[in-house]
Amino acid sequence: MKSLHIYFALMITLLAISLAGCGKEEVVTNVGKLEFEQPLNIPPLLEATMESDGSKHFTLTMQTGRTEFLPGKMADTSGINGTYLGPTIRAARGDKVSFDVVNDLGEQSTLHWHGMKLPAVMDGGPHQMIDAGKTWSPHWTIDQPSATVWYHPHLHGKTAEHVYRGLAGMFIIDDEDSKKLPSNYGIDDIPLIVQDKLFTDDGKFLEDDEGIFGTLGDEILINGTYDPYLKVTASQVRFRLLNGSNARAYHFGFNDGKTFKLVANDAGLLQEPVTMDRIMLSPGERAEIVVEFEPGEEAILHSFNGHAGIDSGEFDLLKIIAAPELAESAPIDGQLSTVPEIEAPENARVRQFKLTMENKINDKYMDMYRIDEVVPAGATEIWEINNFGHSHNFHIHNAAFRVLSVNDKEPPEYERGRKDTVFIPNGSNVKIVVEFGNYADPHYPLMYHCHLLRHEDDGMMGQFLLVEPGTESEVPTTLPKKENKDGHDGH
Ligand code: C2O
Ligand code: CU
Ligand code: CU
Repeated sequence: MKSLHIYFALMITLLAISLAGCGKEEVVTNVGKLEFEQPLNIPPLLEATMESDGSKHFTLTMQTGRTEFLPGKMADTSGINGTYLGPTIRAARGDKVSFDVVNDLGEQSTLHWHGMKLPAVMDGGPHQMIDAGKTWSPHWTIDQPSATVWYHPHLHGKTAEHVYRGLAGMFIIDDEDSKKLPSNYGIDDIPLIVQDKLFTDDGKFLEDDEGIFGTLGDEILINGTYDPYLKVTASQVRFRLLNGSNARAYHFGFNDGKTFKLVANDAGLLQEPVTMDRIMLSPGERAEIVVEFEPGEEAILHSFNGHAGIDSGEFDLLKIIAAPELAESAPIDGQLSTVPEIEAPENARVRQFKLTMENKINDKYMDMYRIDEVVPAGATEIWEINNFGHSHNFHIHNAAFRVLSVNDKEPPEYERGRKDTVFIPNGSNVKIVVEFGNYADPHYPLMYHCHLLRHEDDGMMGQFLLVEPGTESEVPTTLPKKENKDGHDGH
């Protein structure tokens, strides 16, 4: 026994020396630093007013403010209807929704509905600029399966800054299928918006855009709460994980290896729940998991270290404390989604996208006036992404997709459902089958891009039009420049 101990001690010493020897960077971590003393903030559900045409109307005001994250210290922040982040919007498939998005930021911005299928002019991308002091009023009918989608600014060149300061929120879509899962908001249906931050000594946000990925923080906020804990009162709790970070990817799991059921990817429910203990989410991705608790149990949600650059770090995220008595919830198994999986038709059009070391897509940076792809509305296509550069991911507006393969192998188990954003490891080939929205519009483009916000701002983005099938070759591939005084497109 004793010699074994000595042997292990020796091995560990050698390992430590070899790690130090090859100059391995120290892994960023907050482990051991937290007390889990702040009750987790749950963004309020935004109340709708009913319009005469039957639509649900919401008002979102983008504003600036000051927020306390580190105890006793104030940071300058932005928020929607508050000083940091925004309220949760909840609506059902079939609902008509309308918004007044009021820009009180004192500068231009936009508000994009990430994951939503809607007319391009309602998308809130870089072409739907909202000037300071102005109100933008998009409206559409929700016509897609239940999902956890989200909203955030998307003005070209400034998305990283605006999101980092706090402009983001969750948008929950319900349907008949999603009712099979815990749905009591704030009780057994909990949003978790995960963001990493760098703080100055006096508790202000620090943006450090010098690195290859943009800002990677060493502290974590969940729903804007630093050092959070959450008390739960139900035996099964659905968590809606949203990676709202600028660049960081997380490998979510529990400290003690506790398992959970993955029930949804970005764009909808899985066919059936899958039990696992780890799931990776890169920026912009979402997942819904259902976690089972024993009375009195304590669990720490954690992010494990990875080797893709954007995921290097070891973080405790949230302490979850189960009440001594828990409300029993119905078991979760069997069929979840009744929506068929996205399948490629036999003659599906294949498009190639090459990500390069300079953070370009197909050797180009984004140009607001150039159309890169023209896609027939409602089409299902295969998009093939080859990454010759750093770690990136890929998001497509107004679309849902399924990952067919990563380097010709089945994708990891946690990314086999409906998605709209996917991690693209460096050196990899990722094939996805994409189902596009049905709204044709030859004038307003939609975006595909890397969702590492620094890369996106630097132009790692392309524009596509969704057009009436058969008119692909008729639409112009440059957009008219409508110069106004500050050189921006005045749409
Ligand atoms: Cu989450 Cu083009 O955006
Ligand atoms: Cu989007
Ligand atoms: Cu990127």
